[in-house]
Amino acid sequence: MALLIPLIYISIAIVIVAYFAIKFRYQYWAKRGVPYIDPVFPFGLRFKENGKRRHFIDIAGEIYSKFRGTTPFVGGFFFFTPVPLIVDLDLVHHMLVEDFSYFHDRGIFHNERDDPLSANLFSMEGQSWKTLRAKLTPTFTSGKMKFMYHTVLKVAGEFDKTLSGMLEKDNVVEIKDILARFTTDIIGTCAFGIECNTLKNPNAEFRKAGRLIMEKPRNGVIGTVFLLLFPELAVKCGVKVLHDEVSSFFMKVVRETVELREKNNIRRNDFMDLLIQMKNGDDADSELGRLTLEQIAAQSYLFFLAGFETSSTTMTFCLYELAKNPEIQEKARQEIECVLNRHNGEFSYEAMMDMPYLDCIINETLRKYPPVVTLIRVVLCT
Ligand SMILES: *[C@@H]1O[C@H](CO)[C@@H](O)[C@H](O)[C@H]1NC(C)=O
Repeated sequence: MALLIPLIYISIAIVIVAYFAIKFRYQYWAKRGVPYIDPVFPFGLRFKENGKRRHFIDIAGEIYSKFRGTTPFVGGFFFFTPVPLIVDLDLVHHMLVEDFSYFHDRGIFHNERDDPLSANLFSMEGQSWKTLRAKLTPTFTSGKMKFMYHTVLKVAGEFDKTLSGMLEKDNVVEIKDILARFTTDIIGTCAFGIECNTLKNPNAEFRKAGRLIMEKPRNGVIGTVFLLLFPELAVKCGVKVLHDEVSSFFMKVVRETVELREKNNIRRNDFMDLLIQMKNGDDADSELGRLTLEQIAAQSYLFFLAGFETSSTTMTFCLYELAKNPEIQEKARQEIECVLNRHNGEFSYEAMMDMPYLDCIINETLRKYPPVVTLIRVVLCT
């Protein structure tokens, strides 16, 4: 009893102090005369409405249509942190082009010590990001794309066969999954020279890893919020973002591939090749030093994820829209047939570059269903 009374007083005091601290914090934008979104305790933005969780695309879309043309940016809060939300396209352009050198960091959580694969090109920051980024850019020259085209076509043949087989059994197919298998096989052969075989075997290890990453994130909502709000503390506590199975799978695949190539002196002029060169220090003046096997695995994991997920998502939505709009589908079919006729019935790189209507369809799909809804940037203070 003697202890209870002071405890109650302390609790009440804490609540009152916290209340005023938050109230003060939430005046951040108002005090600066910036148009702002009324903060909602505790998330800052209205992540819930009438008890239902809202997708971030709806929140962002609502803010954009309400404020565009009236202000370059809107003040918002992520929990108690003030964040400017940019609604002016010219300002976006400035941040991503002219002033990009101040805006390359994304503030993505990573923990190199306990979760080495989380420290990849997407989450890396500052000079080490710049150096690695510059070195990996040659993966995507148009010459290389052209070179990869034959591999893509080969996998497309496999896709055709698999899909036909599925349609013989059932006229309903889960298109997202088979497209993810298609793009997994492509990224596997093009970037790593590995046959993932997920079209032949839907439960191949690569596809299992892909599903685990996308469908069952390691940390739930509370865990994710914790590491976003307190990244330094989360690193100290050893918080990881990847599943242990996913990490060990990628470490194993990368180790085996690197060993095989080194032992047999295989040069393939692909993404893995660039990484192996950086590991063996062909480039002496590197800021990064030589890459370790973990660092190679981290980039491979990211390329795998970025390679299969965004492209299969876009194709899924594209097919959905084509199914809903048969006239557009018909027009696309006519363009493809007409172009193929012009190119002797052969589906080549040149033929594909000659399909502007199809290009419009893909662009419009990306506009309506962007696989990445918002870009987050952390400004570099000098
Ligand atoms: C589709 O978008 C790309 C990238 O913005 C652009 O280069 C291309 O011209 C667009 N295609 C058409 C047909 O508008």
